Amino acid sequence: MSDNNTNTTTAVADAIPGQRDSDTAPLLQVRDLRKHFPIKGGFPIRRTVGAVKAVDGVDFEVYEGESLGLVGESGCGKSTTGRLLTRLYEPTQGTITYKGQDISHATRRQLAPIRSEIQMIFQDPYASLNPRQTVGSIIAGPMEINGINPPGGREARVRELLEIVGLNPEHYNRFPHEFSGGQRQRIGVARAVALEPKLIVADEPVSALDVSIQAQVVNLLQKVQREMGIAFVFIAHDLAIVRHFSQRVAVMYLGKIMEIADRDSLYNRPRHPYTHALMSAVPEADLDVEKRERIRLEGDVPSPIMPPSGCRFRTRCWKAQDKCATEEPPLVQISGNRSGHLTACHFPEEPTIEARAEDIVLDPALAALESDDKS
Ligand SMILES: Nc1ncnc2c1ncn2[C@@H]1O[C@H](COP(=O)(O)OP(=O)(O)O)[C@@H](O)[C@H]1O
Ligand code: SF4
Ligand SMILES: [Mg+2]
Repeated sequence: MSDNNTNTTTAVADAIPGQRDSDTAPLLQVRDLRKHFPIKGGFPIRRTVGAVKAVDGVDFEVYEGESLGLVGESGCGKSTTGRLLTRLYEPTQGTITYKGQDISHATRRQLAPIRSEIQMIFQDPYASLNPRQTVGSIIAGPMEINGINPPGGREARVRELLEIVGLNPEHYNRFPHEFSGGQRQRIGVARAVALEPKLIVADEPVSALDVSIQAQVVNLLQKVQREMGIAFVFIAHDLAIVRHFSQRVAVMYLGKIMEIADRDSLYNRPRHPYTHALMSAVPEADLDVEKRERIRLEGDVPSPIMPPSGCRFRTRCWKAQDKCATEEPPLVQISGNRSGHLTACHFPEEPTIEARAEDIVLDPALAALESDDKS
C-alpha cells in the first residue's frame, strides 16, 4: 500500500506541471492527505478498535483564482476533505501546503496570519448562521475576530458587502429568520468574502436550496470568484453544478480521488468507470437515451472502515478483473488523456467515449448561464 502511495504522489507531481507554466506555484497543495476517525470500543477499558477512513490518501492542488470541483456520492469524504483544508480538522497523515507553508499541523497561533485568507461556506444556510445575531454582526464577525477595521468602518463595509451579494443594505439589523434560504446563503457568501480571501472551500453551498434558487447562488459565487479573483474548492454531489462552476474537477470515491482533469476533458471523455457511471446517473428525462448506453451504479458505497482491497471501486465496477482486487491503481496520466487528466484505473474506458456533457445540465436556469458564458 505504501509503495502505491509513493507512486501516486510522484505521478501527480510529474503530471500537473505540464498543464501550467512550470513556474506557477499552486496556492494550495495536498499530498497523501488522510483523516481516520478512531472507533472506540471495549469494556471496561475503552480503546481504539478501528477507524473510519474518511479521507485515505488524496493528492491535488489548487491554483490562484481557479475553481476546483470535488464530486462524488454521499459519504465518500468530500466534506472531511473540505474541513481538513480549512483546518477545522487535523489531518491523520499527509501534508497541506498553503503558499509554500506547511499548515498540516499548524497551531491556532501559527494559523492566525492566514486565517482570513481561507474561508468556508457551508451547506446548510439555516444552521450556519447564528439566529441570535443580526446580519450586520454575522458579516462583521470575521473582521472582528481578525481585528480588521476597514476604511469607513465595519458597518459601511457590511452594507457594501450586502449590496455585492444582492441583498438590501438596509437589512443590516435584521435576523437570519427574516430571510429565505437563498438569501441566507447570500449572507454566508458575504461573510466568507468579507476579508477578501484567497481561497473559499464551499461545501455543497446550494444543495439545500430550491432548484430555482440554486442557479442564482451559483451565479453569485461565480461573480465573486471572477471579480475578486478568489480560488474555490467547490464541493457537490451534483455534476451539473460542478460542471458549471469549476475549471477542473476531481472525482472522489471512498476517501480517494479516482479521476481529476480539466472540466471539458473530464466531462467529454471520462476514463474512470466511476466517473462514467456518475455521469449516467442523471434522470432519465434529461438523457438522450438513444445516443448512449446507461450504466446503473448498483449497491451502496462500501464502509470506509474496511475499504475493498486493490481498487476501492471494484465491488461496484462492471469491468473488475483479478488484478483490481490485488493492486491499487495509481492516479496517473494514462494514454489518450490530455495533459493533467489523471485516472486511477487498470482498465480505463476508451478515450473515444462521446461527449456526455450536454446531458448533465439539469436546470434550465443553469443551462442559460452556461450559454451566457460561451457567448
Ligand atoms: N466526525 C466523524 N466521525 C466519524 N466518522 C465520520 C465523521 N465525519 C464523517 N465521518 C464518516 O466519514 C465518511 C465521509 O464523510 P463525509 O466527509 O461527510 O462525506 P461526504 O461529504 O462526501 O458525504 C462517512 O462514512 C462518514 O460517516
Ligand atoms: S481498476 Fe478495475 S475495478 Fe477499479 S475502476 Fe478500473 S476496472 Fe474497475
Ligand atoms: Mg458532505
